[in-house]
Amino acid sequence: MSDAMWLRVDEFVNRTIVHEDEPLKSAVRDSAAAGLPAIQVAPNQGKLLQLLAQAVGARRILEIGTLGGYSTIWLAGALPADGELVSLEIDTKHARVARANVDRSGQGGRVKIIVGPAIVSMASLAPPFDFVFIDADKENIPAYFDRSVALSRPGGVIVVDNVVRDGRVADESCADPAVLGVRRLHEMICRDPRVSATTIQTVGVKGYDGLLIALVK
Ligand code: SAH
Ligand code: DHB
Ligand code: MG
Repeated sequence: MSDAMWLRVDEFVNRTIVHEDEPLKSAVRDSAAAGLPAIQVAPNQGKLLQLLAQAVGARRILEIGTLGGYSTIWLAGALPADGELVSLEIDTKHARVARANVDRSGQGGRVKIIVGPAIVSMASLAPPFDFVFIDADKENIPAYFDRSVALSRPGGVIVVDNVVRDGRVADESCADPAVLGVRRLHEMICRDPRVSATTIQTVGVKGYDGLLIALVK
């Protein structure tokens, strides 16, 4: 198994069943043109987020880490006309680029982008959220997850991006704060009676990483 094959399979899947529409493609283009890092979810991962949000019948979605609004657009596509997505972003430039991208997708009316440290913004949010996507700074994942559970309705789903990090999550000698964040997340969840969770390793255009999926009981 090679990186080249992962790429080929991602391209095949994205070309056949994923359907990345024009607003999504434009969001990637404009984010790159504005100098944002190209670390958005892959198209097939964005579609997974949308499908999971649809499967839980999400009316209120919380996203932590907006970047240029790419995952935001996928997630907003899961909402009914009167649904709402709140996305938290610390960087004003990222938020500005995301605002334009989301507005161009026609879903701007349902999307609120709050600029500031996510942990601070979360304190002013009220439950219930049906779906949460955690994808901001990795050291703070345990805190984001804990607060996300409190903001979720029973039956809600929380997805955390980048929890495997080239396998380093299982390397006990790794002192990278981002890796410690995802390690601690797993250790914390195993003692948390509020949720049931699993982690799935992923390969593809984003390299070797993984997603954690939790159901709030
Ligand atoms: N979800 C996006 C990618 C997010 S990248 C997508 O898939 O399209 C991570 C984002 O989190 C960056 O834009 C970064 O500025 C933001 N971020 C980093 N630290 C943060 C913090 N403390 N609070 C809120 N956002 C933060
Ligand atoms: C990084 C962040 C992400 O959210 C991601 O999906 C990939 C990489 C990063 O900070 O390097
Ligand atoms: Mg990510």
